[in-house]
Amino acid sequence: MSEDRAALRKLCCDVADRGAPIENFFPDREIAADLLTKYYTDYEPQSTFVALCDERIVGYINGCMDNRRYGLVVFWLLLPAMLIKAFKHGLFFRPEIRQLLCGALKNWRRIFVWRKKSFHSHQGHLHVGIAGDYRGQQLGHNLVNTLAERAAGLGIAELAASVHDANKSAGGFFEALGFVVRERYPMVLIRDGKEEHYHSLLYVKTISAH
Ligand SMILES: CC(C)(COP(=O)(O)OP(=O)(O)OC[C@H]1O[C@@H](n2cnc3c(N)ncnc32)[C@H](O)[C@@H]1OP(=O)(O)O)[C@@H](O)C(=O)NCCC(=O)NCCS
Repeated sequence: MSEDRAALRKLCCDVADRGAPIENFFPDREIAADLLTKYYTDYEPQSTFVALCDERIVGYINGCMDNRRYGLVVFWLLLPAMLIKAFKHGLFFRPEIRQLLCGALKNWRRIFVWRKKSFHSHQGHLHVGIAGDYRGQQLGHNLVNTLAERAAGLGIAELAASVHDANKSAGGFFEALGFVVRERYPMVLIRDGKEEHYHSLLYVKTISAH
């Protein structure tokens, strides 16, 4: 339903910056929501699950069961449309975006060499988020278990999640759920004009077959 889709897009943006709103580092919510959710809602909705409270979406897990397919859809179908939309929104003339693009250039090795590798596998990945007031109630745990069940049923051997090391709560969460850090890459984020240096961690969980 279109209201569910809008609610999911809103929640993804509300928690995108380590649990805080995307506007902390990206000014256009509509384009951010496209980037964060469009593959999952439009191309693989059967791998997205939500947690509801009083019919309101308070948690989500966006899953993908084939990283190669994800890479191809995002690169060839979604990114071109998003670039056109960003141009129409006048995004490239905004100073914050120029800073973000400079940051992306500094991360070129992470984006074009290291991360590119993961888009050649036919394994799965996920993004999970819980609204602030509902954290610590096992909702994230249950959503990951639900997606892992689906992955096991499809014969997927691994689910991955990418987190940066400043997001300590997400790191603690994935470790508690049996994910282990497989790869670790340096990355730069530009926030308020200042460079922040992190590591991007690729957490992987092995899924046992049914
Ligand atoms: C990370 C996140 C998804 C966890 O969801 P949650 O529903 O609050 O977590 P759960 O209640 O299911 O916790 C499961 C286990 O993870 C661990 N855990 C959860 N939050 C933690 C935290 N802040 N620090 C350390 N460990 C944590 C605990 O071991 C917990 O089990 P316990 O409560 O029995 O001790 C949630 O905090 C969130 O939405 N964060 C913002 C978005 C984000 O960073 N997403 C991850 C990137 S994809």
